[in-house]
Amino acid sequence: MREYLSGFGNSFATEALPGALPVGRNSPQRAPYGLYAEQLSGTAFTAPRAANRRAWLYRIRPGAVHQPFVLAEFPRFHNRFDETPTTPNQLRWDPLAWPTAPTDFVDGLFTMAGNGSPAAMTGAGIHRYACNQSMQRYFYDADGELLIVPEQGALTLATEMGVLDVGPQEIAVIPRGVRFRVDLAAEVARGYVCENFGALFRLPDLGPIGSNGLANPRDFLAPVAAYEDREGDFELVAKFQGRLWTARIGHSPLDVVAWHGNYAPYKYDLTRFNTIGSISYDHPDPSIFLVLQSTSDTPGVDDIDFVIFPPRVLVAQDTFRPPWFHRNVASEFMGLVTGAYDAKAEGFVPGGASLHNCMSGHGPDADTFARASVADTRVAHYLRDTMAFMFETRTVLHPTAQALSASTLQADYYRCWQDLPKHFDPTRR
Ligand SMILES: [Fe+2]
Repeated sequence: MREYLSGFGNSFATEALPGALPVGRNSPQRAPYGLYAEQLSGTAFTAPRAANRRAWLYRIRPGAVHQPFVLAEFPRFHNRFDETPTTPNQLRWDPLAWPTAPTDFVDGLFTMAGNGSPAAMTGAGIHRYACNQSMQRYFYDADGELLIVPEQGALTLATEMGVLDVGPQEIAVIPRGVRFRVDLAAEVARGYVCENFGALFRLPDLGPIGSNGLANPRDFLAPVAAYEDREGDFELVAKFQGRLWTARIGHSPLDVVAWHGNYAPYKYDLTRFNTIGSISYDHPDPSIFLVLQSTSDTPGVDDIDFVIFPPRVLVAQDTFRPPWFHRNVASEFMGLVTGAYDAKAEGFVPGGASLHNCMSGHGPDADTFARASVADTRVAHYLRDTMAFMFETRTVLHPTAQALSASTLQADYYRCWQDLPKHFDPTRR
């Protein structure tokens, strides 16, 4: 069993060698074991204490030690969200095809949609990945933190701060700038990534829910310090301002022997989410399923909400229990990790994706509407073995040209609403 540190945004202290953390000062004249001290800041120096995130790393070599970066070709993984006019159509995709050539996590990333930009430090890039090789190189993303949602195949995320094992129905977040390598625990791996250009993901306030519920802080797990003392000819890939750059590096950058602070990768088991819903009537807004939020400068309006639809019991009386038809100012990118989603009878499969942009009408398909309209709501309905999620954003998500021309795009998605019959009869109330 891998060891972890429990808590969300806590200030941790962890060392892989006894006494590797300096006592009483962050940057002593000489650090223990001949290590270099390096600060990694995730927020402005002057951010309020509750929001301030940084870590001190005690490492074999500083992060500056590598050859110059040169621009690299990664045509599928980018932040070009203005390549093509943004359609208001409802969009849905089949899962990504499995690669046939050797493909690691970075090569396997395929950008689906996005908004904002790394330059503006606001918005999101939404990607899917499918890969069949462990990385033989290292990667970091200067453009945003990476929220990784595996759908198939567990990943071992070897990071500067230690190792996280993350599988389907779990998520991991790699902070902006943290260097890491993705090893595959199985033959193949597939999933989703939300690249958050804006404010760091945080746990939402709970308001009248009280002091417990939704995602509980103690279920978030950070790695303990672990280091690689390896020399060789390695590649370091950097994502910087929407492009990928590559540099040679003569050692493993995962050489942090000890660290302390509150800017670190973390994982979370989605099945631990305390799902809250109506025990009387009506369908609450999906904000009740909010796991993590990236807040904006406008109170109550998030840049990104990460929302899940986990197993739950539907008991609302005299209520249409699946999500009703809706049109929202927010834009909704959905994925499915396992099972089925309760608003769709078919077509939305694990590994698939859908995008319903600002004010585009959507909701249950005709089959789901027909069934839910006559369901006996005196009986509880158990939704088991399901895990859907949504990256919901404040501004419109622009699908990329490659997502709109992909063979996985379902050209007939709109048909799922065409069989909704007219029931209206002004003579029958
Ligand atoms: Fe929706």
